[in-house]
This record gives sequence, structure tokens and C-alpha cells, in this order.
Amino acid sequence: MEAPLQLLVVDDEPAIRQVLTGTLRKAGYVVEQAEHGEDALEIIIKGYVDVVICDIRMPGMDGIELVKRVRARGMDTLFLIMTAFASVNTAIEAMRAGAYDYMIKPLRKEDVLHRLVQMGNVIRLQDENRTLRQIIRGHGVFPLVSPAMQRLDRQIQKVARTDHTVLITGESGTGKSVHAKAIHEASPRSAALFIPVNCGSIPDHLLESEFFGHVKGAFTGADRNKKGLFMEADQGTLFLDEIGELPLHLQVKLLHVLEQNQVRAVGSEQFRQVNVRIVAATNKNLKAMVSEGTFREDLFFRLNVFSIHIPPLRDRTQDLEVLIDHFLQKNAAKLGAGVVLNLLPEAREALLSYHWPGNTRELENALERAAILTEDGCIALEDLPDTVAACAVPFRGGGGNEPVPVEDGKSLRDRLRDLEIQLILETIDECNGDRKQAARELGIGLSSLYRKLEQAQVSRM
Ligand SMILES: Nc1ncnc2c1ncn2[C@@H]1O[C@H](COP(=O)(O)OP(=O)(O)OP(=O)(O)O)[C@@H](O)[C@H]1O
Ligand SMILES: [Mg+2]
Repeated sequence: MEAPLQLLVVDDEPAIRQVLTGTLRKAGYVVEQAEHGEDALEIIIKGYVDVVICDIRMPGMDGIELVKRVRARGMDTLFLIMTAFASVNTAIEAMRAGAYDYMIKPLRKEDVLHRLVQMGNVIRLQDENRTLRQIIRGHGVFPLVSPAMQRLDRQIQKVARTDHTVLITGESGTGKSVHAKAIHEASPRSAALFIPVNCGSIPDHLLESEFFGHVKGAFTGADRNKKGLFMEADQGTLFLDEIGELPLHLQVKLLHVLEQNQVRAVGSEQFRQVNVRIVAATNKNLKAMVSEGTFREDLFFRLNVFSIHIPPLRDRTQDLEVLIDHFLQKNAAKLGAGVVLNLLPEAREALLSYHWPGNTRELENALERAAILTEDGCIALEDLPDTVAACAVPFRGGGGNEPVPVEDGKSLRDRLRDLEIQLILETIDECNGDRKQAARELGIGLSSLYRKLEQAQVSRM
């Protein structure tokens, strides 16, 4: 299900605000209110608002000025202007400033709702375009289907429009780096640079100069001025990967830059203004590091303004399935035009049952390796890494099953378990080895069927 549009109603007249808000909430929208332009701007730049419904004449910043200020920040938030002054001129001026549409007061409920439906379609198209552009440019992440990742994608699209610092957490290989890049690509900064830096890979004594630059002669070996990553990423995005590896002395300096938007090169007296958006990532538990005293609490709060957690692949089987197909196609294309790669059922089920400690990266590597090993384009169990293949559940195609011997002296529970496993194996056989169908016929889930087989330690055939 799609998330409802988030609206902001801006009007200095409390009665109009209340009535409109009430109507829109009843229609299923999420609505915030602001009574003047300044307040509205503050809410809009947080980036959660999809549509602003805004009066033109207001004390202080008027509606047209508000549209201009939002556009000046490169945000494409849609504006629906309301005006009591049926003068074509003000409406035209609002549209020129970048408003999407206007309505003349008094408003008619059906009219407002109708326009919001249209604007919802426009927003969907904008999102789709952005995603397609990213895929075409080759920077984008492959769109995933699990509810968790779809929600995350929507969060990313929204926060990308803002300048907020984003902290991405998640296990290794879940896609933190590719999503950091996706934030930049979807942001108004996409024309400027995205500079990734791995905080764990730069020697301690060089970190400060790498980050902030140095002037000639600042230390032995500094034979020319160096710009530093912050200045290089000016107007763009700096991606601080493995932020948990940053030593404490540099954490202090980083915090200072984030608060002041100023950097000072090593050996220089001068602070210089920078305009950089920070995205940070870590697979560490920063909160725990704060308690241990290895990560500064103030920096943690500063980074954690907007946090995104990418769940491990094993918790989103739907994504696992689409990623398998995605990587199969990708590897087939690498092998040449017209090449098709197939997965034999047993290999697919092994891939689906494995717990993927290395997440998407491990899956990608496993399929790349399998694509090289397979002889005939059909990926079999033996083409997968041993750890993955070991997850295969016995495939009992063809011949009859030996009945599981029921030994005397066993407890009732053990004998029932033996009978159960015998019944499961017989059913699998009747279904010609199709375990999904067998599970259905037995009225149990596929995963419990696997578990029971595993517990019974039925050897692989
Ligand atoms: N949605 C996705 N679509 C396609 N590929 C993906 C997706 N998510 C992750 N990957 C791939 O998985 C691999 C790991 O992703 P990435 O390097 O972003 O993970 P990470 O969380 O940054 O890992 P680490 O913690 O080791 O830095 C990459 O090769 C990336 O292309
Ligand atoms: Mg990474």
C-alpha cells in the first residue's frame, strides 16, 4: 500500500486552516499546518511535505515568496496556491514562481480533493523518473520489493530533497554504500560531486589533512597546498563510510565542521566556509560505542538526525528472490548477448534457505562465481559455494524411500517423530520431489518441512 501524501496547509486565517485541515484528514491525508511563510519554510525544508496548500496574502513572507524560497533550495515540493483575490495576475505570478496550480477562494471540497489526486499522480511520476534516471546512469540501486525496503526507499527519496545529515546503519554488505550514493543522486546536489571516504582506511596521522587539507609547509612532506575532502565535496555530498572507525580527536573536529560549516586546513589560521551534505554509514553499534566512551555522544546526536537502518537480507526473503533473478540476468549479460542463466530448483532452494551473513554482497559473489562455473547455463548445487550448498534440503526425486526403521525401546515422542519423518518423505516422493507441494499436502509451511527434515538429519541424496 502506498503511503498517504503529506500535506502542509499554510494560511494566516485560523478558521480556514482548521476547516481545510479537518476535511483533508478525513480524506486520508496526513496534514500539518503553519500560520505564516517563515514557519512553513522551516517545515518544508525538513523534506517530508509532498504538497503545500498555501495562501498568497500573508503577513511577512507571502505565498509567492515562499514558493521562490523553496525553489531556490532546489526542492521540487508541489504548491497549490489559494487566493481570495481573483486577480489573474497574482495567480500567474505564483505559477511563474513555480507553483503547480491555484484555486480561488472560497474553496470547494471536491475541487481540492480532485486536484490533490492529480498532484499525487505527478509525485508518483516524479519518483519513478528519478528512479529510472538513476538506473540508466548506472548509479542506482536495483529497486527492491520487501515492505521494509520499499518504506526505506520512500524515506530516502524524501530525505534526499533536504540537506539533513543521514546516518545509514546495517550489517556488512546490506547496501549502505549504494544507498548513500542513491541519496546523493536523488538530491538537488546530484550535479556536484559525491565523494566517498572510508574513515577506517586512512592512517590516523593523515586523517586531518585528508579531511580538511593542509597548507604548504604545514608538516614535513607538505610540499604544496592540499584542498581536503570537505573542500572537494563543496556543494556536493561527502560520504563518511565506517564512521565508527574515526578516532576521537578527529570526531571533535568533525563535529565542529558540522556545526559551523567551516573548515581550517592544517597549518592555516583561516576558517573557510563549506557547503557539504554529510551521509555517514557504519556496521557498528554507535550507541554502544557512546556508552563505552569510544564515540562522542554529541557527534552521535549530530549524525543521527535522520537514521536509516537497512535490515539484513535473511529478514527479507522477497528481496532475496528478486535479487537472485537480478544477479542472474546481470551475469548472463556479462557472458554475452543472448546468454540465459537458469537455476536448478535445488540450487534456488539452497540460496533461499541460506542465512547470508554477508548479505547482498555475498549473494552477488556467489552468483557471479556460479555463472563462471556452470557448464551449460544451468546453475546446480555444486556451482554454489559449499556453505550455501550445505543448506540444500534432501531432494528425493525418483526411487522409493526406505522406511525409517522404528527401533524398539524408543520413547513415544521419538517414535512419533520417526513416523512423522516417514510420512513427510513419502509425501515428498508422491509429489515427485516437489517439497513445496508436499508441504501443502501435509498442511505445514515449507520452512517447517525443511526444519523437520534437518532435525531428523536425513542425509542428502
Ligand atoms: N538494492 C541493490 N541492488 C543491487 N545491488 C545491490 C543492492 N544493494 C546492495 N547491492 C550490492 O551489494 C553489494 C554490497 O553493497 P554495499 O557495498 O553498498 O554494502 P555495504 O552495506 O556498504 O557494505 P560494507 O558494510 O561492507 O561497506 C554491492 O556490490 C552492491 O552493488
Ligand atoms: Mg560500504
